Amino acid sequence: RRFLQTLGRVTLITILTAGGSFYYITYKDRTPGPQQPFDPDKKTIVVLGSGWGATSLLKSLDNEDYNVVVISPRNYFLFTPLLPSVAIGTLDARSIIQPTRYITRHKKRVVHVYEAEAQEVDPINKTVTFKGKNFSYTSPIKGQQDTGSIKYDYLVYAVGAETQTFNIPGVKEHSCFMKELKDAEKLRTTVMDCIESAAMNSDNPNAGADVDRLLHMVVVGGGPTGIELSGELHDFVHDDLKNWYPELADKVRVTLIEALPNVLPMFSKQLIQYTESTFKENKINILTRTKVKEIKENSVIVQNEKGEFVEMPFGVLVWAAGNVGRDITRNLMGKIGAAQSNPRGLLVDDFLQLKGAEGIYAIGDCAATSYAPTAQVASQQGNYLARQFVQIARKENLEAKLKHLRESLDTAPEAIESTVKQINKASKLRPFHYSHQGSLAYIGSEKAIADLPFLNGNFASGGVATFLFWRSAYVSTLFSLRNRTLVVSDWLKVKLFGRDTSRD
Ligand code: FAD
Ligand code: NAI
Repeated sequence: RRFLQTLGRVTLITILTAGGSFYYITYKDRTPGPQQPFDPDKKTIVVLGSGWGATSLLKSLDNEDYNVVVISPRNYFLFTPLLPSVAIGTLDARSIIQPTRYITRHKKRVVHVYEAEAQEVDPINKTVTFKGKNFSYTSPIKGQQDTGSIKYDYLVYAVGAETQTFNIPGVKEHSCFMKELKDAEKLRTTVMDCIESAAMNSDNPNAGADVDRLLHMVVVGGGPTGIELSGELHDFVHDDLKNWYPELADKVRVTLIEALPNVLPMFSKQLIQYTESTFKENKINILTRTKVKEIKENSVIVQNEKGEFVEMPFGVLVWAAGNVGRDITRNLMGKIGAAQSNPRGLLVDDFLQLKGAEGIYAIGDCAATSYAPTAQVASQQGNYLARQFVQIARKENLEAKLKHLRESLDTAPEAIESTVKQINKASKLRPFHYSHQGSLAYIGSEKAIADLPFLNGNFASGGVATFLFWRSAYVSTLFSLRNRTLVVSDWLKVKLFGRDTSRD
């Protein structure tokens, strides 16, 4: 009895402590304290974007020595690795976004966040012109009023990339994309539109071909986005449609189209084979060496490996064929000229400084580096820049101190010498070094694949255990306790009640 009493007390204390800590952390998170005001005498860092690169920078940056202004058309951070899960309702859209102010309001000095799109960067005059939705802008910088243009001392250029269409006819008009939150929401609605239209006509003997078309889901691009999305679509059909639309579920087809000889070229060979065999089991049809040539309203024209042109009707088509730089990035490259000639993106030096321009740093998918355009790279670059800015501020503060020491008559020579040494130390900036933590992808039916660096080699694994690892890795990578809690509770909800099949 005494043992049970002790166990009861320990359990109660543990629950109270855990609950108390959880409440304390969430309370601290949603009640940020006062901040130091904008200081016109400090240098201004303008950050373009609120994605992986920009948000990692903002999270790590000590902005005591800087004024920081963030300009981005979306006022939140989007956790892209879980976006395909939103597209079929495994996760709620709000669970994977984090308002940018939840981060900036915790900074030492106030950060201005403008929900606006940068239109142009002038690298000579060091200004950014931007445009927001229905707003009248008053610049915090002295002497600039309602101009929609801001002067920077340092510009962190982190606008990402957009989806590559290769100017293939019909892509923009008739495809769904998988880049932004609205894309995932649109896809979810489009899928349900097709399912409901097919259900309405399932008893009509004359509508057979149209029902087949509506239930054909095509994904273009066998990179990780296309693979993850195909896996999620399979789960939706298998776990949910089978129960609620039994007359349709067996007729749903998922086809993945890839121009190259195999999918997932960045993963090891055995994981490519594992993915292909899992897709086969899950009846996801992979068409490799097949190029999309045109997309019409209800059909896609492809050229297969024999060179033949084939027309395939579809209900939903998702275009996930890679990245291309944004117009503003091309415009900036044009202004800089010869130093920026790589069509893949902005060229930077080892310190992430834009080649051919002063005071601009480019991070993430907009930069053309030797690394893949991934969240991992962008976030490490953001963290690196945050450390660089602290070091630059330290150096500038020391230089101001040295000037002051030299100006005062009674300064001991040792004090000057020691400050010079500190300046020399602070001047030595380390180049950016990327540390690859591995590649992970979800492939459907509660299986994932992982290529992980291990003892100077590689450890490849795939299956259900890897899926659990995939989930725990992404939950721990989410930027806040709030997002972690929402994502885990969404997973639990889907496990208990299934996905919501209602149409918005
Ligand atoms: P983004 O995160 O795209 O952010 C760009 C920001 O710039 C956005 O806030 C945007 O609104 C803003 N912006 C756009 N135009 C302007 C403008 N004119 N002015 C100001 N701001 C602007 N990578 C991984 O490592 N692991 C994964 O599992 C993974 N999964 C992914 C799943 C999907 C579906 C997708 C689409 C990508 C995935 N990625 C993954 C890749 C990863 O999301 C990108 O590499 C990463 O987002 C790049 O970060 P970024 O900061 O350069 O750009
Ligand atoms: P991607 O560039 O990796 O893949 C696009 C694929 O589309 C390519 O294989 C290409 O051959 C194919 N393609 C292009 N045009 C085509 C056409 N006309 N017809 C048929 N196929 C065509 O693009 P993705 O998957 O969007 O990924 C972008 C970046 O984001 C990559 O760097 C990727 O590593 C990263 N990412 C990482 C994830 C992860 O680690 N789990 C998940 C999603 C993206």
